[in-house]
Amino acid sequence: MTLDEFLNNLWQGYTQIAPSALKIRQLLESRGETWENDHIAFRTYDRSPIALADLEPHLLSFGYERYEPYAFEDKKLRAFGYLHPEAGRPRVFLSELETHKLSAETNAIIDKLVAQVDAEKIKDPSCMFAGPLWDIPSEETYQKLLDESEYAGWVAVNGLCANHFTVSVNGLKDLPNLDALMSFLEENGYKMNMAGGRIKGTPDVKLMQGSTIADKGQVTPPGGQPYEITTCYTEFAERFDGFNGFVPKSADKIFESTNVKS
Ligand code: NI
Repeated sequence: MTLDEFLNNLWQGYTQIAPSALKIRQLLESRGETWENDHIAFRTYDRSPIALADLEPHLLSFGYERYEPYAFEDKKLRAFGYLHPEAGRPRVFLSELETHKLSAETNAIIDKLVAQVDAEKIKDPSCMFAGPLWDIPSEETYQKLLDESEYAGWVAVNGLCANHFTVSVNGLKDLPNLDALMSFLEENGYKMNMAGGRIKGTPDVKLMQGSTIADKGQVTPPGGQPYEITTCYTEFAERFDGFNGFVPKSADKIFESTNVKS
């Protein structure tokens, strides 16, 4: 698989469960705008065979290089940013849930999910857009996970996939800044994640970000009733002075885009 094929597959899977991302891209392109991807983000559990350390080799095999580690104490996450030496390639943000910091009950649920993963499948980069690698849990189990960690619940029903693609404000031709982009989309009916304010970050921290509220989807556990979940969202990023990193204080609030309660 080439990097282009990998990125295309990620986009296909992502827009299938988050159709509004495709509509946003089409809307911008129909306005004559350039749609460039600032970064792609992934979520996973820190459990072999799907831990960050298990998935990272795929990124490295495509030429990505580790840039910076990040920690999210409250959300019990750690993450790495990755850069590609070729111009025009999206950055990657790969995070994992620190499951040992969660309750025994949540760990027991995650144990059951991860035990179903076919480790052979993880040897191929296609695992990163494979979706759930286990049977969809019951709605009751999903709710239990959400109660303790929104992130834990999200991964249980969405599995491995792109959590978001990110429109690069710097790549836009006509819309002059993040606020103009978000206002344009709001005028077209898109709702923004207001956790921590509509726009996260300032030019001082070299990165300003915003995001939509995640799309809704439906899953059906084996032998059970279908139920509603949150899937993926679109993020927007405006960078200053060639900054290539991420700002944990802002990202912490961007994570809220998939919060069912928001
Ligand atoms: Ni992001």
